[in-house]
Amino acid sequence: MSWIKRLPLLKNIVQYAFRCRLLGLIGLVWVNIPGYAGGTEPIVIATDHVALVYEAADNGRLYQVHFGERLDDQREYGKNQWRREAYIASGLDNLLEPAIRVIHGDKNPSLELLYVDHKTGAIDKNVGLTTITLKDPVYDLYVKLNFKTFSSENVIETWTEIRHNETSPVTLTAFASSMLHLNAKSYWLTQFHGAWFGEMNVAESKLTSGIKVIDSKLGTKATIFQSPNFIISLDNPGSEQYGQCIAGTLGWSGNFKLAFEQDEQNSLRIISGINSFASDYQLRQGQTFQTPAFVFTFSNKGAGLASRNLKRWGLNYGVLDGKRDRLTLLNNWEATFFDFDERKLTRLISDASQLGLDLFLLDDGWFGNKYPRDNDGSSLGDWEVNKKKLPHGLRYLSKEASGKGIKFGIWIEPEMVNPKSELYEKHPDWVLRLPNRKEDVSRNQLVLDLANPEVQDFIYATLTGLLQDNPGIGYIKWDCNRMMSSQYSPFLKDDQSHLFIEYARGLYTLLERFRKKYPSLPMMLCSSGGGRVDYGALRYFTEFWPSDNTNAFDRIFIQWGYSFFFPASTVCSHVTSAGNQSIKFKTDVAMSGKLGFDLMLDHLNDHERLFCKNAIKEYKRISDVIWYGDLFRLVSPYETEHAVTLSVDSTKNHAILFVYNLHPRHNDFNKAVRLEGLNAQTLYQVDEINLFPGTKTQFALSATYSGDYLMKVGIPVTSNEPLSSHVFELKSIKQE
Ligand code: GLA
Repeated sequence: MSWIKRLPLLKNIVQYAFRCRLLGLIGLVWVNIPGYAGGTEPIVIATDHVALVYEAADNGRLYQVHFGERLDDQREYGKNQWRREAYIASGLDNLLEPAIRVIHGDKNPSLELLYVDHKTGAIDKNVGLTTITLKDPVYDLYVKLNFKTFSSENVIETWTEIRHNETSPVTLTAFASSMLHLNAKSYWLTQFHGAWFGEMNVAESKLTSGIKVIDSKLGTKATIFQSPNFIISLDNPGSEQYGQCIAGTLGWSGNFKLAFEQDEQNSLRIISGINSFASDYQLRQGQTFQTPAFVFTFSNKGAGLASRNLKRWGLNYGVLDGKRDRLTLLNNWEATFFDFDERKLTRLISDASQLGLDLFLLDDGWFGNKYPRDNDGSSLGDWEVNKKKLPHGLRYLSKEASGKGIKFGIWIEPEMVNPKSELYEKHPDWVLRLPNRKEDVSRNQLVLDLANPEVQDFIYATLTGLLQDNPGIGYIKWDCNRMMSSQYSPFLKDDQSHLFIEYARGLYTLLERFRKKYPSLPMMLCSSGGGRVDYGALRYFTEFWPSDNTNAFDRIFIQWGYSFFFPASTVCSHVTSAGNQSIKFKTDVAMSGKLGFDLMLDHLNDHERLFCKNAIKEYKRISDVIWYGDLFRLVSPYETEHAVTLSVDSTKNHAILFVYNLHPRHNDFNKAVRLEGLNAQTLYQVDEINLFPGTKTQFALSATYSGDYLMKVGIPVTSNEPLSSHVFELKSIKQE
């Protein structure tokens, strides 16, 4: 290849430029060379509408030449004079945040990545795979950049593999899944941040020169403060319908880092991956370090389209059994907390069945004998049924449930142990803790060392044993109620900096093994609410618990945040006694996600019970549209005193409109809401559904509307009644 011959000369130029402080932005200078022609043809990684394009230059390096809308003529990609090195390594001419940094066995901290080859193939009609291999010319170290394209979803999944054949281990101190470059006038970052009881707040800020980092150093419960999801809007603040944006999400259930660096030429680097904080990784000869997947899309129609792309990908590929129906359920956590016995539970089972729910979920408090789990102070790790509370065991309860025609599910927090437990007494060495310091408990508990295969085996045996002994268990809620502190693994000994990574990998190994045996058992992912919501974990889970905050008013905001990235079928939403809103308001909010209940049903009056029963029936009738339809966020609770969303099924014949009025002022009502995503030519009948018994709709809607009218003029569906809600159904009318 011609560029190989030219390398020594190029190297001299680079070194000279450095010496003269002409500046290491060789990659940037390079792009301005007039008449520059690339070393390879453009490597086009494209979906139906989005393209990411690379080109290897004559200097051997790989450059990103395009990311955005796909061009009609792919020969034109190479014309772009703006380009940036694809996956920038530290130690040579890079001056900003690198994608990768290594220290070789001889302590040399430099890396140069030159193009070796690339392969492109089709996995099936919709999915393609491109792998670009890069290599250091001096050291025997390879980096593979992998890109899976999902054509109809317009989503790209990318991950990196790092491997070497050097005799001594190579230390990796930065190892991004992805580096992307953007070139716009300005960049607006939407991030999703929170805390326990207040997850996924949506916040937008304009990026300025320098670096903005969103990360987690929590180990477990890693997403409770910041979530590994973002949107970057180009040139203007983000909008639901307009403008170019990229939306991305990292599939990793551990420490993550998203870095956005705006350089002195106003370009933006987006670097996503595992957080390298306290995680230097010793990579042995021949070993491959594989990063988690970063999943992203590009939209020219605002955040609405970007999130519909990602959620369609989630349903089709990202979430376990994304297209299988979910179970409505009654959970006993907020109904009873730890205070229950067989009698109370059988009553709840019977209530759940009478209401028409699919499942009863028994939460925390069912286990421990030497140390009974009557509060959160003991027993985690001792996963035997508490004989005093449940003398006839779990089988009795699951039989009760199946006798009433519903399923039975159970809560477990398998990664944790209380110091007050038999497990801890037997295996103090299985716990993360510093050898010479006091243990650091949180919620009275400690984290088990999942880097240790023995611990993984114990959890696997616990879970499979529980399911074998109780074949009636048809659902699991897997909790993880604390973050890591005292970050020291007795098992890893001298490799403590591997702990964060090996813990997450240990979790995946365990889940992989479990899923081989139980591939389709529905499972809820929970971590004190939204402490572990990411697409890495959702490969093994069918749904997640978004927040311990079940106040329906707060939930509107929390669920709004999740709706940018996760399908409604995965967002568990329960009607509880929290909040002083009506049962209708609570149920309408819960129906926009995966509906469940968590309250003593005998606290409801007859009308409320009847309403709930009807609502569950109604939900089952329309849940396909809510779960699998396209979501349009029409009116934002962040900008108004209302929240309105529309879910439209793929045929555009059926749609569900959720309307929530928060705390509007007197004159704040009756404004027409323009709908989206309908078929302009179709005639729709619009009916208010899910009405409370004895009430009538207050909206004088016309008998029918065309999609054209609904999208251009809209219909008045909000009201000024505080904390009220309405659900409307749109059905196409066959025209003669
Ligand atoms: C966590 C979960 C709750 C509940 C409790 C039980 O807080 O988020 O839903 O399961 O644990 O202890």
